Amino acid sequence: NSNQKHYKIGFSQCTGGDEWRRSMLLEMQRELFFHPDLELVYKDAVNSTQTQIKQINDLMKEDIDLLIISPNESAPLAPVVQEIFRKGIPVIVLDRKINTDAYSTFIGANNIEIGKAVGNFVAKKLKGKGKVVEVLGLESSSPAQERHKAFSDVLKNYPEINVIKELQGQWEKDTARKVAAQNIGALQEADLVFAHNDVMVKGIYEVCHKNSQNKNILFVGIDGLAGPHNGLQMLEDKMLTATFLYPTGGEEAIKVASQILAGKAAQREYKLNSIQIDSSNVKGIKAQSDKLLNQQEDIQKLNTEIDTLENTFSSERNKLYFTIAC
Ligand code: FRU
Repeated sequence: NSNQKHYKIGFSQCTGGDEWRRSMLLEMQRELFFHPDLELVYKDAVNSTQTQIKQINDLMKEDIDLLIISPNESAPLAPVVQEIFRKGIPVIVLDRKINTDAYSTFIGANNIEIGKAVGNFVAKKLKGKGKVVEVLGLESSSPAQERHKAFSDVLKNYPEINVIKELQGQWEKDTARKVAAQNIGALQEADLVFAHNDVMVKGIYEVCHKNSQNKNILFVGIDGLAGPHNGLQMLEDKMLTATFLYPTGGEEAIKVASQILAGKAAQREYKLNSIQIDSSNVKGIKAQSDKLLNQQEDIQKLNTEIDTLENTFSSERNKLYFTIAC
């Protein structure tokens, strides 16, 4: 409908290279299907804060009506977000926080609560005694800071649980594998590894199982993503003892963006819920999310079919106009 107002949403993603963020984008695309007045301009900063700053400046030049950002690091991205917000462009901060108040709304799960829940799970699992290796996400990103702090705070109540090593995995499987290989000693001693996401568990697991370094070690992660190689499957395969759901918020981001662009008020924060997933509930959760994944694929197929139909229709119409004109 040409009378419909058309809005351009810029989406600045810190990295698009992992399954969790691919799933976020898919959720957005699925939700966008219901909002034909919205266009998404997507930029992937590939884990580089400098690239992300540049891409936001580019989006500003493209006259976007709203910015969605998942900031790579909290501090260095604050000035450019302030600049864009002060120009009157609404900003939705997604998943990772930013060191400024200059934004419209934050959407994400509470990483403090998740870190605490992990701490309590670990204490229970180890019966109050044992050696832990913690594998952290990128230190300058807010989920890594919050997960670490909350986890450490809980463990203060358990003097016989020792975190014998903190490894910097920077959210990435390859980095985690590399630091694990350099810290075999700690991993051989450890009873349990807590990695800030499931992907890093994969890297550490590979090292621990290679040459049977330590096969009895327990792994706890975060994300609990559906799909063939992700957290829920890792749980079923017993690679993980537990994981904690970390919803991507892709769908919510588009819904809230649409609301803001329609001139409606938005909350300052939308909290997404997390849940502990372990052998007791993984089957049900996996069945539900597999169903959702199938539905998502169906919607995508439908989308492509509609596009094809639209293209055929417009080329037939052009042929018709041409015939009439002649
Ligand atoms: C994906 C990811 C997730 C993690 C989140 C934190 O890029 O590393 O695994 O939960 O980012 O921002």
